Amino acid sequence: MIIAQITDAHILPKGQVWLDKPETEVSDRLKLVVEHLNKLVPRPDVLLFTGDTVETGCKRAYQHLKEILEPLTIPVYIIPGNHDNRKEMQAAFLDKAYLPRDGFIQYVIDDYPVRLIALDTNVPNEDYGRLCSQRLLWLEENLKTNSSKPTLLFMHHFPMKVGQKCFDSMVCQLEGEFEKLIQSSPHILGIVAGHYHKMCTALYGGKICFVAPSTAPTHYFARNEDNHVTAIDLVYPSFTLHRWMGGFQMVSECIQAINPSNRLLINNKKKE
Ligand SMILES: [Fe+2]
Ligand SMILES: [Fe+2]
Repeated sequence: MIIAQITDAHILPKGQVWLDKPETEVSDRLKLVVEHLNKLVPRPDVLLFTGDTVETGCKRAYQHLKEILEPLTIPVYIIPGNHDNRKEMQAAFLDKAYLPRDGFIQYVIDDYPVRLIALDTNVPNEDYGRLCSQRLLWLEENLKTNSSKPTLLFMHHFPMKVGQKCFDSMVCQLEGEFEKLIQSSPHILGIVAGHYHKMCTALYGGKICFVAPSTAPTHYFARNEDNHVTAIDLVYPSFTLHRWMGGFQMVSECIQAINPSNRLLINNKKKE
């Protein structure tokens, strides 16, 4: 099973630009990733979109996002990030049967060999995330309903600190023993998250927590005492493929959606 992941697209209403900098072209970047995903062979089975789907959570941004995602040939499952608005997201994606119509956007996808559990870490108008006792209780109950299948959790905010001052204040706050729950659930493969705009991994509760790179530009951190974001790096937009090969074997690969004009073809013919 191939689980594709995109995250942190930060789409704006049509005609607006991200951070007032036209060079960021967040919508063109997501379009490029959609094109790459549609051309993949073998085709991924599912696509997880781990939040910050839009920049400001307004209706017009979600309309624009839907337009960009329309050509996707892979079933997409979305969750909110700190930039999303839960209610506007629910209203925009009413056609997605998996998405709860109100309350937290947490759900279980049981149609594949790997069970996918979506967690909603959004706290309205805050950049940090939270798994409150209600959301954690929901997770605990849903982990019990099928413990025979490998299970992957996906959420926007990661639960551990990453050693970057400004992001460590924006991680997922926990109103319960999330790490112990992970530790005591042997069927959990791991956690995939976003939010950081850069790839990193950590061990959390003895499992891998994989933080995927963004489709929007990435953050550049000052390498000094302050350690805050000082710039935006215009690297290629990225997506991730998690290849599950049975049991607890899963390999995660980050891919840059490179413009074909920047790809140099080499001669593969064997030398005589
Ligand atoms: Fe983001
Ligand atoms: Fe975020």
